[in-house]
Amino acid sequence: MKFLKLLILLFTIPIFSQQGGMWIPSLLKGMNETEMKNLGMKMKAEDIYSVNKSSLKDAIVHFDGGCTSEIISNKGLLLTNHHCGYDAIQSHSTLDHDYLQDGFWARDIYAELPNPGMVATLIVSINDVTEKVLEGVGSLPTEIEKQKKIQENINTVQNNFPKESWQDTRIRTFYEGNQYILFVTETFKDIRLVGAPPSSIGKFGSDTDNWVWPRHTGDFSIFRIYANRDNKPAEYSQDNIPYTPKHFLPISLDGISEDDFTLVFGFPGRTQEYLPSFAVEQIVNTLNPAKIEIREAALKVQDGFMRKDKAIKIQYASKYASVANYWKKWIGEKQGLEKSNAIQIKKDFEKEFQKRVEKEGKTKEYGSILKDFEESYGEITEYALARDYFNEVVLRNTELLSFGYKLYQLEQSYASKGEQSFNDRRNNLLKSFEEAYKNFNPTVDEQVFEQLLSLYLSKSPYSPPSLTKENLSKLTSEVYKKSKLTTYEGVKELLKGDAKSAIKDLNKDNGYELVKLLANHYTDKVIPIYTELNLKINALQREYMKAQLELFPDARYFPDANSTLRVTYGKVQGYNPSDAIYYEPVTHLDGIMEKYIPGDYEFDVPTKLIQLYKNKDYGIYGEDGKMPVCFIGTNHTTGGNSGSPAIDSNGNLIGLNFDRVWEGTMSDIHYDPEICRNIMVDIRYVLFIIDKYANADNLIEEMKLVHPKNSSKKSKKRR
Ligand code: ARG
Ligand code: ASP
Repeated sequence: MKFLKLLILLFTIPIFSQQGGMWIPSLLKGMNETEMKNLGMKMKAEDIYSVNKSSLKDAIVHFDGGCTSEIISNKGLLLTNHHCGYDAIQSHSTLDHDYLQDGFWARDIYAELPNPGMVATLIVSINDVTEKVLEGVGSLPTEIEKQKKIQENINTVQNNFPKESWQDTRIRTFYEGNQYILFVTETFKDIRLVGAPPSSIGKFGSDTDNWVWPRHTGDFSIFRIYANRDNKPAEYSQDNIPYTPKHFLPISLDGISEDDFTLVFGFPGRTQEYLPSFAVEQIVNTLNPAKIEIREAALKVQDGFMRKDKAIKIQYASKYASVANYWKKWIGEKQGLEKSNAIQIKKDFEKEFQKRVEKEGKTKEYGSILKDFEESYGEITEYALARDYFNEVVLRNTELLSFGYKLYQLEQSYASKGEQSFNDRRNNLLKSFEEAYKNFNPTVDEQVFEQLLSLYLSKSPYSPPSLTKENLSKLTSEVYKKSKLTTYEGVKELLKGDAKSAIKDLNKDNGYELVKLLANHYTDKVIPIYTELNLKINALQREYMKAQLELFPDARYFPDANSTLRVTYGKVQGYNPSDAIYYEPVTHLDGIMEKYIPGDYEFDVPTKLIQLYKNKDYGIYGEDGKMPVCFIGTNHTTGGNSGSPAIDSNGNLIGLNFDRVWEGTMSDIHYDPEICRNIMVDIRYVLFIIDKYANADNLIEEMKLVHPKNSSKKSKKRR
């Protein structure tokens, strides 16, 4: 038995250890390049990232800060997910022309729709600046002084790094403060909506299927980058022209099969792969359950209204989807961490770590890290919980409170920075409120308010003692009856006049009064201690990382995701979600018809798609008489990777990343290559919808479709 275990270990570690991780594109030479080649890649590291010539990275675009997108034509055509373009699609939708419901297709470039405020960022270069950022830091006695010095150095380096006038620089930390990297970027500000399928395709399966395999969602939408006449970033103007990229991705029509190499290139947001067991315990047992309960209450209220009222459904569609998204993810994450034994695996590693520290004679440097972690996590739990309650209830899910909190910050900025800062901030706020209030319904929010505050008062370790559950329903109706925060006009009126009089008016409003009470209590009782403990934990995390790099030099360490450009790779592969069940890696249009529920808000199917299915009218996009829809692979992805291209061994686009499988949602904290899979929509399905469903030939003509598997040397040369 023991021998068998050892054998399994010996064989699984080398195979699987070659997968997982999100790597820095400029540092792929060496281990990563070898691993990718072993998995079947035919490109060189230099084809993925190069400063000297155009490379894949020139086609990868950070989409509006949160998602990824890729350029797929020499006229700046940009492909991303439907859920990433959702806000934009919604903002152009009304009851008369509901693009969310019916889809939208610009038949020529004049019909493309501008999106004020939307941005798309390209990476120009990636530069290690660790030495300069850490200069003079080591000798400082306290953590606060160290962080202050680091911040000063960051500002200096950021401001003095050579760049063109239209470019920006930003520095991010890697390996928990052990490495610093500077990015030179170009941010485009005129991004127009070009096409989107109806939600019954782009969001097929909606929340029921979200985070779940087998999946059948055509989760894509299309935008275009516009530049000024010099091909440089510019604010929206009618004179702007489509951007000419340094590189765009050709699209492979050859499709995928199990075990094919895949590379996903994008902007993963945040992972926490190196947390100690104590932190994971806190997430599983305390933080996730609290957040899940809060969101569940908010969702229940919104869902009730959305099902009854079509206008509310449009107003709340985007907000609901994003609240529901992480609600569901946290449930999956908790289950996955439990099922994969993550806490025990961490504990076992920590034992090993401690042994190694002692063996190497490093007790003085690293001997107390784990003990200190345990102590600090013990202390921080109630403050972390209070923080999550405040974030989720006040800042995130009760809109009247979150609007009020922005006004609270406005008052603070007057107190600390004076009239000018107040005025600037007020103008920006009013602009963003104008949009936000369009999608605000006080009747819905009133019920959310009562439900969520009730949880806050009974379960947050720190809530103002003067608020009690007994008075809550009276308080609720008084706030929503009297407060001016329930309408945009009301807020505008509160904010008129000079700073002093506006603040005076604000403080007479009962909604604002409540926000202030909550915020002050939180600021006094939670923030100071939380911040202090968190600083300590971050410093420990940095030392822990440093120690691991030093004491286990052969292990494979990738830096946690931090919204910077990364490469992850793996292969197309199914998995066993549970005993005796195996999930194939590819789904087909047949599966959409199996899930079809006429008229259902999640599983309806457009008539035209049914027709195409019946006629098997798949054009050049089908395979063996079937239409592939989605596929999964072993690429290690996270939130922010949505819209990332799935790229084949030659650098062609084969799919569009949009999700992960249920059993593997814990991958942000504990990546298990046996069951963690990312979900991609097959690019052939995307093309089929654009071409056969929407007849948008104008878009297909712009793209470059290739057949790498069948290509003779001739057609390769042409590229
Ligand atoms: N789970 C995916 C991601 O985290 C897709 C989310 C789309 N939203 C939804 N509620 N279906 O972004
Ligand atoms: N759906 C996610 C996104 O929007 C991707 C993921 O979390 O797997 O970025």
